[in-house]
Amino acid sequence: MPIEVTPLTPDGKERVEAVLRRAADDISFRELLLSNPSEALKDTDLTAGEAEVLARMRRVALEEWGVDVRSFRSFVLDNGNKVTVPGDINPSDDNEKGHATQRGPFSCARKGSRMPSDIYLLGTGIRGTLHFTNETIQALRVCRAVYVLHPDTMVLDYVRKYCDDVHDLNTFYDGREIRQDVYSAIADRLIEEAGRSGPVAFLVHGHPLFLVSATEYTLDQAASKGLKTTVLAAVSSFDTTLCDLGIDYGYGVQIFDSTTMIENTWAPNPAVPLLVFQLATTCNRRVVKDRPAGPILKPLVDFLTPVYGPSHHVRIVHSGAALLEETEVIDLRLSELTADDIDLERRPTLYVPPLG
Ligand SMILES: C[S@@+](CC[C@H](N)C(=O)[O-])C[C@H]1O[C@@H](n2cnc3c(N)ncnc32)[C@H](O)[C@@H]1O
Repeated sequence: MPIEVTPLTPDGKERVEAVLRRAADDISFRELLLSNPSEALKDTDLTAGEAEVLARMRRVALEEWGVDVRSFRSFVLDNGNKVTVPGDINPSDDNEKGHATQRGPFSCARKGSRMPSDIYLLGTGIRGTLHFTNETIQALRVCRAVYVLHPDTMVLDYVRKYCDDVHDLNTFYDGREIRQDVYSAIADRLIEEAGRSGPVAFLVHGHPLFLVSATEYTLDQAASKGLKTTVLAAVSSFDTTLCDLGIDYGYGVQIFDSTTMIENTWAPNPAVPLLVFQLATTCNRRVVKDRPAGPILKPLVDFLTPVYGPSHHVRIVHSGAALLEETEVIDLRLSELTADDIDLERRPTLYVPPLG
């Protein structure tokens, strides 16, 4: 139904656009504006007519009224309610990328830009659904589809609260033997979907850019295809390990992926604390199907022993990852890492304290 309003004055246009800009920057305000416009607008200096048009948030009405909607972008919120909110993207940018878009207003692109993204690279944090940040949830809400690589099915159910189209990427392991093949296939899928219609999200355990090859491959491919990406910070096992060990690593720490360290013969500095990640896949590029145990750590122990000596005390840390799961820290000597009863199934990290 058409709304009858008085013509928009230059001052009124400024007032209206200021509200729209605020809605673009502040998701809480935007949600209030959509759910309870009179509450959201009560402290603004809009006239009653301006508030009425804004409360309806109809793109065509705003356009006919004289608001320059080319600088605003349409998107579909949860449950398919079509609304118009502002964004800082010029619609012609979409055409340059050569793909249709129905992208959200999420404005947290890298390097301070307000441009929306085609692909969001997101992390759940370590403990189940408890580490999701508000920022990550904000991104999930505006994505057309979310692709999840996570062992916990509760996480998938949780994500469905924010996006209707959620895909479990664990099926990508089926029929593939080499892990990198799995991750490059995931990257291919994300690029294809983002090219078809963005934004889409990739959601992984922990931090999305901490030992996540699929993120790296996606970033590389997106750059060459002109797709815009945003990586959002999330709680990683580096963070939780720091808490579980009660050590402030800010003064100096060495972080290595077990295989990369050994293959490159990057000898650690024994005066500086050391964290070794990805123990369970040490010198193994294949998808791990059997329960990994201590004996697979022989190459790592052989590599570290000349630096630290076999009886150096080390710790295996598993930060609680399921909702009620307790953190486990096992103290042992370096030489004991290869024992049969060392269970690496839960993907722990090794802490090697400095010598002396
Ligand atoms: C493929 S990497 C992914 C890391 C993840 N993106 C992150 O931010 O923690 C997996 C490695 O992270 C570490 N990790 C993951 N979960 C952990 C946990 N609950 N406790 C300790 N280390 C963990 C282990 O070193 C494991 O082999």
